[in-house]
Amino acid sequence: MGAERIDKLLAGTGRFSRKEVKELIRRRQVSVNGTPVLRPDTKVEPEGAVIQVAGETIPCGGYTYLMLNKPAGVLTATEDRRQATVMDLLPPELRRRKLAPVGRLDRDTEGLLLLTNDGVMTHRLLSPSYHVDKVYLAETEGTVDASDVFAFADGLTLGDGVRCQPAGLENLGEHLCLVTLREGKFHQVKRMLAQRGKPVRHLKRLSMGPLTLDETLEPGAFRPLDSREVAALLECCGLAEG
Ligand code: URA
Repeated sequence: MGAERIDKLLAGTGRFSRKEVKELIRRRQVSVNGTPVLRPDTKVEPEGAVIQVAGETIPCGGYTYLMLNKPAGVLTATEDRRQATVMDLLPPELRRRKLAPVGRLDRDTEGLLLLTNDGVMTHRLLSPSYHVDKVYLAETEGTVDASDVFAFADGLTLGDGVRCQPAGLENLGEHLCLVTLREGKFHQVKRMLAQRGKPVRHLKRLSMGPLTLDETLEPGAFRPLDSREVAALLECCGLAEG
């Protein structure tokens, strides 16, 4: 990775803003290999260094993993000339880390969106061969019934002849259901429910494999994954060490 400024390294984890890092350094709360850092522009080679904030070791050298509660009205894209994208919700130090969304949520869909620069994990989480379930909460016109549940379980064929893999459907009461998919075709949940005569009025992604939306995140807010969440994701896509 090469040597980088300590304030950039720490802000790049998503846990602190550059301003917070400055203040932490001023209060002598940041150390590298046990030595307090005195200036935010101190260069550090993160590989093998023990970087601590208030005594807690902060992994800085590797990939960045963020959970975003995507709000309606922004595009799932890294850039767009006309419309706001999910990247516009991040501070500059995180935008510079070449993060990309894992999968796509429609502009009007809300909920869990993982952003990372770990390309191998991204590929595996999206590949049907790794069987990573994505769970959506859908509000529909009409209410799904047992025949819809069977049709989803069988593998639906959409109007244009596209065949879907078997999917989970659970009725949660009037106008509300949970949909579980292992693939991610364009507008898939909306098209599947529309095919059954239950168009979607509102859609929110709740989980992706072992990762569940942190409901304390307001729409538009993000946080870095904690080490247990990262370990669970690595495990579910066969990337855990040992
Ligand atoms: N399926 C949809 O129809 N839309 C989404 O945003 C995600 C899954």
